[in-house]
Amino acid sequence: MRIGVLTSGGDAPGMNAAIRAVVRRGVYAGAEVIGVARGFAGLMVGELTPLDVGSVADIVHRGGTLLLTARSPEFVRPEGVARAAREAAGLDVIVMIGGDGTVRGGAALEAAGVATVTVPATIDDDVPYTDQTIGFDTAVNTVVAAADRIRDTATAHERTFVIEVMGRSRGFIAVHAGLAVGAESIVVPELPVDLDDVCTRVERGHARGKRHSLILVAEGAATGPAVAEAVQARTGHETRATVLGHVQRGGPPTAYDRALAARLGEAAVAQALAGARGVMVAAHGPAVATVPYAEVLAALKPFETDLYELARTLAI
Ligand code: F6P
Repeated sequence: MRIGVLTSGGDAPGMNAAIRAVVRRGVYAGAEVIGVARGFAGLMVGELTPLDVGSVADIVHRGGTLLLTARSPEFVRPEGVARAAREAAGLDVIVMIGGDGTVRGGAALEAAGVATVTVPATIDDDVPYTDQTIGFDTAVNTVVAAADRIRDTATAHERTFVIEVMGRSRGFIAVHAGLAVGAESIVVPELPVDLDDVCTRVERGHARGKRHSLILVAEGAATGPAVAEAVQARTGHETRATVLGHVQRGGPPTAYDRALAARLGEAAVAQALAGARGVMVAAHGPAVATVPYAEVLAALKPFETDLYELARTLAI
């Protein structure tokens, strides 16, 4: 059996650990494993390289992706899918590591006759049916480490800080990191931006004698600098903004993400060898399940209202 493996979309810490699991599980089962460079963009032009057990040595702890990744506007067009399908003709199945765009790409390839299995990996954690996506835990820990540092300087200067985190359409990073750092307010795309509430909470904290305030804003809801300007104008408290940006996508994966990558990468190959096609592997507690692409694409991961409310309750 010839198993292709690619990473697609935004990179996520733990992608390398997933590649390692796919390659080694595949080779140990007697399969030939072929790396596809640059995701769908590389597949369209046949950038294929055989991988052996040694080629994935020394990557389990590294961020980024050995196979490189890309966002490929050409691939979303029917001609792009057809080109990719032609280049994939020599592969029995492709294990694809990426987020919701990767699942959509997998579904398009399936429709063109290419067998695929997807491993969910994105720092955004915006893929339904899996407990978490690979990379989310590391990104949240990166935000928490940065916020802890910002808190020191915020306290020293008695300032309010707005920290803008990633999350184009979902606020999972903001909510998890906000809960972990005790942010006064968390602004997410899932809820209307309520600056009155944000300012009231800053003022309540000050009235209680707090020397700093932290506000976490998901990029999809508002920009950090805009929120900081509004908070300073309305409350009169000196307010600064920090945009964390791509620092959230790099760095060594946490132990949690490495283990998740090992489990999901292994399961994807086991499923592929057993003939599963058009499915995403998903962590369900200690078990790994498979979910058909159609179900993944039809669902929206529910917003974690309980965690959001808990963060608000405990912060002030
Ligand atoms: O991969 C997800 C993500 O990091 C989002 O949180 C963010 O909005 C986006 O990718 C940024 O993408 P790019 O690096 O292509 O600008």
